[in-house]
Amino acid sequence: MKKSIGIQKINTAVFISGTGSNLKNLIKFSLLRNSPIIIKLIISNSINAKGLIYAKKYNIKKKTYGFKKKFLDEKKILVDLKKNKVHLICLAGFMKILSKNFIKRFDGKIINIHPSLLPKYKGLNTHERVIKNKEKFSGCTVHYVTSKLDSGKIILQKKVKIFKNDTVKTLAKKVLQKEHVLFPKAIKKILS
Ligand code: GRF
Repeated sequence: MKKSIGIQKINTAVFISGTGSNLKNLIKFSLLRNSPIIIKLIISNSINAKGLIYAKKYNIKKKTYGFKKKFLDEKKILVDLKKNKVHLICLAGFMKILSKNFIKRFDGKIINIHPSLLPKYKGLNTHERVIKNKEKFSGCTVHYVTSKLDSGKIILQKKVKIFKNDTVKTLAKKVLQKEHVLFPKAIKKILS
């Protein structure tokens, strides 16, 4: 991974599918004077992703690809990334699985945030499964992306205690708050 030297910031792309609270948080982080990243591009697989409002609000380029023809869309994304000299990709609630080939092209430069304490609860509906299993703790993980789903090297994790009266909704809210702290911390960790 390229390091940030002095004020030279790493050009970053954020991939989203939904609300974009992590995106908003990363944008704010990137605007700090000594942040190691600058967000050059927002990629979404849906024109309806609420988070796209932050592209307009913060004047950041955005591109939407449906991923119906995944390989074709990934090819176009690779062109976008090259054009914008992107060296770091942050998956922030991005719900599509990137191909092996795409990941290989950005090997060691794609990181993801996942709402569980990996390696536990890979995949979807983590909070539902955590509550159903009456876990005492959950949390979130930032990890490198490899071709095996939610299995790349862990960069940082944050634990959250689960109380008896917690529901999927309250847990999701608590974990999301921790995600907002963890993602910038993980970026700082890998870029310093
Ligand atoms: C987060 O909980 C993230 O971990 C998961 O999807 C959610 C996205 O939230 N993969 P947001 O779109 O960043 O608000």
